[in-house]
Parts: sequence; C-alpha cells; structure tokens
Amino acid sequence: MGHYVPSKVVTNDDLAQMFDTSDEWIRQRTGIQERRFIEEDGIGASDLAVPAVKMACKNAGIEVSDIDAIIFATLSPDYTFPGSGVLVGDKLGLPGVPALDIRNQCSGFLYGLQVADAWVRCGMYKRVALIGGEVHSTGLDFSNEGRDVAVLFGDGAACAIIGPSEDDARGVIDVKVHADGSGAKLLWIEAPASNRMPRITHEMIDERRVYPQMNGKQVFRWATSKMPEVSLEVLGRNGLTAADIDLMVPHQANARINEFVAGKLGIPPEKVMQNIHKYGNTTAASIPLALSEAIQEGRARKGDLILFAAFGSGFTWGAGLVRL
Ligand SMILES: CC(C)(COP(=O)(O)OP(=O)(O)OC[C@H]1O[C@@H](n2cnc3c(N)ncnc32)[C@H](O)[C@@H]1OP(=O)(O)O)[C@@H](O)C(=O)NCCC(=O)NCCS
Repeated sequence: MGHYVPSKVVTNDDLAQMFDTSDEWIRQRTGIQERRFIEEDGIGASDLAVPAVKMACKNAGIEVSDIDAIIFATLSPDYTFPGSGVLVGDKLGLPGVPALDIRNQCSGFLYGLQVADAWVRCGMYKRVALIGGEVHSTGLDFSNEGRDVAVLFGDGAACAIIGPSEDDARGVIDVKVHADGSGAKLLWIEAPASNRMPRITHEMIDERRVYPQMNGKQVFRWATSKMPEVSLEVLGRNGLTAADIDLMVPHQANARINEFVAGKLGIPPEKVMQNIHKYGNTTAASIPLALSEAIQEGRARKGDLILFAAFGSGFTWGAGLVRL
C-alpha cells in the first residue's frame, strides 16, 4: 500500500471564511476537522497518484517497472478524456502498460479490487497498480448554495499493488459489488453532459449545475442500510462473522455513517479505521488511504482479516475481505 495527500491543510474554520458554516456544524454531523487541497493550479488526480504508486511499490518490494497493469478509480479525472490511468502510466515511465479507468465513485476502489483480483487469479497480469485518486477541490461550490457538499470532500490518492500470493491463506478473499441507477440523481453532477446540445452553457454555469448536487438525507439512509447488508453478504458467503474481523476499513464519507454501520454489524469502534477527521471524503482514494495509514500506524498487521465497505454515487456499493 502507498498513499499521498497534498500539503495544503484546509480546516473547517478556513471554510467558514468562504461561506456560512462552522467547525461545530461540520464536526458534529460528519466528524471532519480538516482536509487537504492541492497547493496550486495544474495538479491533477494523476499527479497525486505518482508518489502513492512509488510508495506502494517500495512497500511491496518491487520496482515501478514491474507493474504490468494499471487500474485508476476516480470521479475527478484530470480530463474528460483520456483517463487518468494513461496519464499516470506516462508519468511513471510505463509505455505500453495497459491502463483501465474505473468510474464508480466512492465504490471505485472495491470495483477495481474485484477486477484486479480476477486478473491476477486468471494469470492475466502479475503486478496490478490499483489506484484511487481524486482532486475534488477544483470542482466544489464554495458558496452558501454548495456548502452541504463542499464541506465533505478532500484531495488525495492511494495505491495497492495486487499480485499473486505465495501463501494461500493471505490475499483477497472476496469482493462483492452492487449498483442501483435509480439513485443516480441523488448524488451527481448534471453538467457538462453529452445528452445536452451544447454540453455546457453559460446558463448551466450561472445556475451552478456544474457542481455536485446531493440529497444528503437519502444518501445517509441508503449508506447505513446497504453497507451493513453487503458486509453481511460477503462475510456470510465465506463462512465468517463480524466477530472474525480484526479491522474494518470503511469508505470515509461520514464518521457517523461508519459508527452506525459498525454498530449494526456489532464491530466495536476500536476495530474501525477512521481518518476522515484529517482528510474528509477522498472518494475512490478513501479506502486505500485508510488501509495504508492503518498499516503505517501498526493498526493493521500481517495475517489480519480486513473488512472493506463502501457506498456512493450511482448508487454503487460493495464490501470486500482481505487477509493481509
Ligand atoms: C450532508 C449531511 C452532513 C447533512 O446533514 P443533515 O443533518 O442531513 O443536514 P440537513 O441537510 O438536514 O441540513 C440541516 C441544516 O443545516 C444547513 N446546512 C447544510 N450544510 C451546511 C453547512 N455546511 N454548514 C452549516 N449549515 C449547513 C442546511 O441548510 C439546513 O438548514 P435548515 O434547517 O435551516 O434548512 C448529511 O446528510 C450526510 O452526511 N449525508 C451523507 C452524505 C455523504 O456521505 N455523501 C457522500 C457519500 S459517498
């Protein structure tokens, strides 16, 4: 595992200088205290990914040149096209290495993990760099109209190197993902859109339809229902229970969502990794960023059984089990 966050710390009080909010409101409802934003113009998701991949390779004991496939999960790609996977491949000096972009928002890492696991199991690739990377700060509405969303998100990237295990007991045990597009417009960005002629207008910008829109209460309700449900599904079909878990590493969208989900599963708070207070919601980067820090801090060790769970825009959701 490896991760990277930009150096610029933005506190809740900093946001309160930009629109009507308060440290108390944000902390109480989300657990977020600060987040990281890119330092300057010109830094994209692929740039944040480069140091994360290098750190992951170092920790995996491989050279960057050993990577034979890239998966890049992001909802904030550097450009509409091409994807950030090809850009990070170029920046790492990996010409010819295939790069797949995954657009499953907060569940992107788990969708990517399922693909990487299948690739490695069938012998297609041996060293997959599975990246989650986001630059949210350039796309948030820092006005009173956008404050419900703007306080939640931060920038960051993380990477897992997925390869064959020499020990049958260790590795990716299972990943289960779901989607329900009936919730697409409950957390989305409306414009620019290829179904509009033209895709973007001054009116869309003036009406702030180029910024993320969210029905926070509905998202909260869905997340607290689907994350426990899919966690039990993946545990059950592997003959495991929540009591077997050494550490739960949930998507970091809201500390209250995670407390609720862990409570429903009967997992005590000390077995739940939370770093949302430092980074906010980094979407596809959040699970690998939390796991990378958990390993760094000694909270996740070799042999531990880890449970992942995520819910996000789409709606998409999923859970995964890994023996470190
Ligand atoms: C966003 C969220 C924290 C809002 O909490 P909530 O209790 O639902 O709050 P509400 O939306 O009902 O808003 C309550 C009040 O706070 C106000 N408010 C909204 N954002 C605010 C902010 N940043 N600061 C201060 N006040 C804010 C609202 O305008 C509303 O005021 P009103 O009562 O006068 O109308 C919560 O819904 C949530 O976390 N949802 C899940 C979001 C999520 O996880 N998204 C990512 C998923 S991947």
